[in-house]
Amino acid sequence: MTTRRDDGSAGDADYGRMAPPYARFRRPDPRIARQILDALGEARTVLNVGAGAGSYEPTDRDVTAVEPSATMRAQRPPHLSPAIDACAEALPFPDAAFDASLTTFSIHQWRDLGAGLAEMRRVTRGPVVILTCDPDAMASFWLPHYCPEVTAVEASRFPPITDVVRRLGDVAEIRPVPVPLDCVDGFNEAYYGRPEGLLDPEARLSCSSWSFLAPDVVDRFAATLSRDLADGSWDRRFGHYRTLPQLDGPLRLIVSRPPSQG
Ligand SMILES: C[S@@+](CC[C@H](N)C(=O)[O-])C[C@H]1O[C@@H](n2cnc3c(N)ncnc32)[C@H](O)[C@@H]1O
Repeated sequence: MTTRRDDGSAGDADYGRMAPPYARFRRPDPRIARQILDALGEARTVLNVGAGAGSYEPTDRDVTAVEPSATMRAQRPPHLSPAIDACAEALPFPDAAFDASLTTFSIHQWRDLGAGLAEMRRVTRGPVVILTCDPDAMASFWLPHYCPEVTAVEASRFPPITDVVRRLGDVAEIRPVPVPLDCVDGFNEAYYGRPEGLLDPEARLSCSSWSFLAPDVVDRFAATLSRDLADGSWDRRFGHYRTLPQLDGPLRLIVSRPPSQG
């Protein structure tokens, strides 16, 4: 059985401690949302697993959301349906109940990835759509230079893409998801051209990997980056990121279909 924390959090991160600013910083980016909608195709009924505050949840479909953390469920805006308190590893739905299922920025937190993916496939007739990060592509911008610890934590949490595809046992397409320079969603890579953004403690609090670091490591990161921004050394070395239109970073969309529909 999945171990739950005080607020119901069922993954490796404790959203009872982190969630308050989450919905403010982790808003859906419209360009990434477009790619997700394309992947969902004609699906009318959609299950969203690890739905959090509802980022990337389509509003033009019949959506059922599942979210174990009460703190996250409480941040869902009124125009979205309330999320069901359940875990990916034990979805409370019959076989083939949904046209498609979706999970965004969540699988790296699950206690049992294989069980969660098998459950998504069991309850879904059509595509299983997964927005995640490729752990082998984490060092795609300047952050590891200033905080190798956070990049290492992220790389250790995200499962290899080939592992996800193998566990699904389906025909899968892996689509790169570029990060736009003015990305609205505040994951770490979104700040590739706006380094000042990651000096905000609440922005970091909205990216769960920072919560695994010792306070002195985070303090060292903030002090070093602040100093280098103030004296111009960040811009001399990394200033080209400020105008790079998009980052070809670690984001991936896995679109997996049962073999009969592949
Ligand atoms: C980084 S948040 C992403 C939330 C939302 N999908 C988004 O894109 O903003 C990860 C979410 O996965 C949820 N989660 C963690 N472990 C889970 C599990 N075992 N089953 C279902 N959801 C889980 C967390 O509670 C959290 O809301």
